[in-house]
Amino acid sequence: MFQDFKQAGDRPVVIQVKEYMKRLIIKGALQADQKLPSTRELSVLLKVSRNTVIAAYEGLEDDGFTYAIPGKGSYVAMVGHPDAEQGGADSSAAWHLDWKAKMNEYAQSAVELDLMKQGIRAGKGTISFTSIAPDERLFDLGDVRRAFMDRMAIEGQVLLNYGYAKGYKPLIDYLMRYMENKGVDPSGKEMLITSGFTEGFDLVLSALRPLTRRGSALCENPTHHTAIKNLKLHRFEITGIPMERDGINVEQLEAVLQKSNRFDLAYLTPSYHNPTGIVMSPAKRSAVIQLMRHYQIPVIEDGFNEELRYSGAHVSPLIATAGRGNGVIYIGSFSKVLFPGLRVGWVLGDRALIDHLESMKRARTIHTSTIDQSILYQYLINGNFDKYVKKARLEYKRKYELTKACCEAHLPEAQLSGDGGLHLFLTFPSVVDTQRLLEACTDQGVIFTPGDKFFVQEGEGTNTLRLGFSRVTDENIERGIQIISEQVRSVFQAGPLGMGEDEI
Ligand SMILES: Cc1ncc(COP(=O)(O)O)c(C=O)c1O
Repeated sequence: MFQDFKQAGDRPVVIQVKEYMKRLIIKGALQADQKLPSTRELSVLLKVSRNTVIAAYEGLEDDGFTYAIPGKGSYVAMVGHPDAEQGGADSSAAWHLDWKAKMNEYAQSAVELDLMKQGIRAGKGTISFTSIAPDERLFDLGDVRRAFMDRMAIEGQVLLNYGYAKGYKPLIDYLMRYMENKGVDPSGKEMLITSGFTEGFDLVLSALRPLTRRGSALCENPTHHTAIKNLKLHRFEITGIPMERDGINVEQLEAVLQKSNRFDLAYLTPSYHNPTGIVMSPAKRSAVIQLMRHYQIPVIEDGFNEELRYSGAHVSPLIATAGRGNGVIYIGSFSKVLFPGLRVGWVLGDRALIDHLESMKRARTIHTSTIDQSILYQYLINGNFDKYVKKARLEYKRKYELTKACCEAHLPEAQLSGDGGLHLFLTFPSVVDTQRLLEACTDQGVIFTPGDKFFVQEGEGTNTLRLGFSRVTDENIERGIQIISEQVRSVFQAGPLGMGEDEI
């Protein structure tokens, strides 16, 4: 015994010794009431200092694994360890459940729809255009560290205790003003802080999902894959409305609504839409709000990318366009413009809706981490936001223009869309199957996201792809797009690459 103890460099030796002894006790290698070696003996056996063993023995006693008899030494306590006879680790009659078979439809669908599990993995040295996460090299760590230290100094003890389901009040007040500055009328509205857009969306869908029938949702087509996934997981039937260069096709939206007024909700991303990057025009925003008001359909507005505007005038969100009306639920997030790791988002909507979401949130997760919320709050009130957004916008705009220029030079047959944000969307002539293109590019060390993932129906958008440029170096943007171009030519050169009239 004690021959297999190996020190690892990354943790205090006292803890390693204590855990090693605990494992021996739990496994039954050291039996109840057995005397432990003296601290001097064990220090020799494990090749650690005697003080280390003394401290480890104290820890074992504190944790109830040993007891000391003064003047005699330390003994193993009567620990309830896994009993092989009762189906413990070594028993042949071990209790074995088939967890895969136990999974319900929701859990199974979650795996089937999980792109991260099926997606292409970037090998070392691969040029990857798949991410639309921010570039971490831009993060102003010093300012974030200061925000953490400042807030901890002010109320660290309060922050470490339970907080409120609705969120951290100073942050809510800040974000309410932030939304008012976007033209939102706050009367009758309240806010709930969530763990990013994704949790907010999940909560809203859970609240609006009909329980006695399948729900029915409208959205832009294509749209955010996570939104499609969650709509499906909540058993919504999805009707996608095609996109035009200035946003959703309003005539088609109206035609769909005239044909059937059975929709429970609409999910829309009017600014720097994912994946097309399109911004919905102010005229279309008004038309959409009028239609939704007429047909009494709640709108979930996704405001995730609003700050990543590189040109053109500010366009008010749909919730502002709706004025005092309460039909729009706005879900905001700083995941693109600031730090997705903080997982802070917000839902702004009618007071009665937020009241229900608050109770649902309390039942599910109690609240979003107050530490995260308060760091974000302090970062914002320290005046860092404008400074950081200015720097980030400048850098992303530069990369956006570089990516656009490279696509125009090397992929002239593809139609480009994207007015801002961290990605561009390419639509090729229909002969170009982007899944096949991806396979060819992967062999050449370049990956991107085939666009069909963003479409509502299977088989749509097979000639499209999304290029996320935020985390790709300038050199790799140029090289990667050149490689994609070479592969388009080598794989699809047999067919004509001209753009058909019906292709947008
Ligand atoms: C359309 C859209 N909405 C919202 C988000 C942000 O989600 P979260 O705030 O949960 O990180 C993303 C991230 O990619 C997105 O593409």
